[in-house]
Amino acid sequence: MRMYDVIMKKREGGELSREEINFFIQGYTKGDIPDYQVSALMMAIYFRGMNKRETADLTMAMVNSGQVMELASIDGKKVDKHSTGGVGDKTSLVLAAMVAAAGVPVAKMSGRGLGHTGGTIDKLESFPGFTVTMTPEKFLDNVREHGIAIGGQTSDLAPADKKLYALRDVTATVDNLSLIASSIMSKKIAGGADAIVLDVKTGSGAFMKELDSSFALAREMVDIGCNVGRETVAVVTDMDQPLGFAIGNILEVREAIETLRGNGPSDLTRLCMTLGSHMLVLGGLTSKIDEAWSVLEEIISSGKGLAKLKEFVKAQGGEPAPVDDPSLFPSARLIKDLPAVTSGYVKRIRADLIGKASLILGAGRETKESSIDLMVGMVLHKKIGDHVTKNECLATVYANDEKRMKETLPIIREAFCIVPEKVDPDILIKGIVDKNSEERFQ
Ligand code: URA
Repeated sequence: MRMYDVIMKKREGGELSREEINFFIQGYTKGDIPDYQVSALMMAIYFRGMNKRETADLTMAMVNSGQVMELASIDGKKVDKHSTGGVGDKTSLVLAAMVAAAGVPVAKMSGRGLGHTGGTIDKLESFPGFTVTMTPEKFLDNVREHGIAIGGQTSDLAPADKKLYALRDVTATVDNLSLIASSIMSKKIAGGADAIVLDVKTGSGAFMKELDSSFALAREMVDIGCNVGRETVAVVTDMDQPLGFAIGNILEVREAIETLRGNGPSDLTRLCMTLGSHMLVLGGLTSKIDEAWSVLEEIISSGKGLAKLKEFVKAQGGEPAPVDDPSLFPSARLIKDLPAVTSGYVKRIRADLIGKASLILGAGRETKESSIDLMVGMVLHKKIGDHVTKNECLATVYANDEKRMKETLPIIREAFCIVPEKVDPDILIKGIVDKNSEERFQ
């Protein structure tokens, strides 16, 4: 088989066989096929697309390029969750504790990530001493003993995706439905989950800006998961404004703690309850979503979720005291309120601009090598539909550098669109996609 022929076939709109897909994934992973040929193939796939069979084969070829986590020694169905990414998204921190406290084991691989804030692991490192460095045996022991462990995504999990994603990132071939779906699902499947709940974001701060393309991505991923024996449900959710109020690592951890305490923002709480309910049903704890919802309500009101967070942080070497007293977290040096210049109603809070401001403040990484500042970020004080009075505070900004603070204030101001007429709040949960159905809520 020659790579040239595989590229030519896709360029002409042909359907790649499983053998051809395995050939290029194995050859690329081993370094036998060069970047320039795989770039050409990615561009051909970008324009010609892949059908469901090709997408499933690409997913499994990437899964088989490395190791698959072996979680069979842990009792119960292991359910993983993935979000396609959004500004202010700290749901994993809340969900992991809630779901584990309910009795569904959480054995999760997480990333650090590039972008406006750090990933789940960076956020957890807000607890002094917290580490994801542990042997596979310790990881499994923690899940057995505490019902929860979060590890770092190792290079042995879906290495082909790691190489391919980096290549797509610099060749303008990221935003293709089959390539995104196979990339995400290969990592989830290699992570060893029996079932998967996906949070597919839609709107200005998401990969998929349009509702229809978000539903199409959700359908593609659900079909991949179900076709390879992993029950998968996708919830399509709003990312036209940041989730919750806090953006930035420690600030988000504080908000997650408040949510586990029952005092979180209503959108974040609702999203965690929705995703968590689906996780409990897939995990076999309850058969109905409303029963699962009640279980999670009790987890919050009894303080079991908060207790589980403390137990988990301690089990991974962290200092859990800030869970009870978040003022123990270090704070940024410069804190500034941003006042509204006009009265009216909030029509839009552009998540992409808020993300950009957060990155400039230093909360996220521009490149893999950049370091992040856990203390900086912002807390918004308004959501879409809220009334604002002139000079009322729109956001409080936390910085450790005067110049960066100055640079971000106009960006945050631009993110807020305030209009004189009343505005309806956004609908957070746009719909649910599972194996057999698709439900849209608007
Ligand atoms: N996230 C991934 O992991 N892969 C993609 O292709 C896009 C988003």
